[in-house]
Amino acid sequence: MRKLLILAALVTAPLFAQVEGDIAVPYMPFEVKMGKGFNEVNANCLTCHSFGYVLNQGRQSKKFWRGKVDKMIVHFKAPITDKDAAIITEYLYEEYGNGKLK
Ligand code: HEC
Repeated sequence: MRKLLILAALVTAPLFAQVEGDIAVPYMPFEVKMGKGFNEVNANCLTCHSFGYVLNQGRQSKKFWRGKVDKMIVHFKAPITDKDAAIITEYLYEEYGNGKLK
């Protein structure tokens, strides 16, 4: 019986736990650049996931970005036309490129 009481006390204890002070939620700016081609990105890339997926990659080469666009089309079946894929790659390289083609 005593064991049961101790167990019950242990199990319910977290229910009474209180948070001391204020909880600070970190502010994460999502800087989406409104450059040429953003309309195409908006229409083709943000249907499945947020822009954070792009930002998380950091600055990358043109080849890298083209590869990501192709990956979305081939693996995830994103319905993106060749024309839009080219415009989007330009946008990504222009706004989030590292200056290298490869
Ligand atoms: C049909 C849905 C879909 C569309 C449209 C789409 N994506 Fe994705 N994307 C995904 C999925 C699924 C993942 C993988 C998610 C995971 O692993 O958590 C992903 C992941 C990513 C990643 C993370 C890196 C990686 O290799 O997984 C990037 C960058 C990315 N997408 C960019 C884009 C861009 C740019 C476009 C527009 C050209 C786009 N996505 C359009 C489904 C899509």
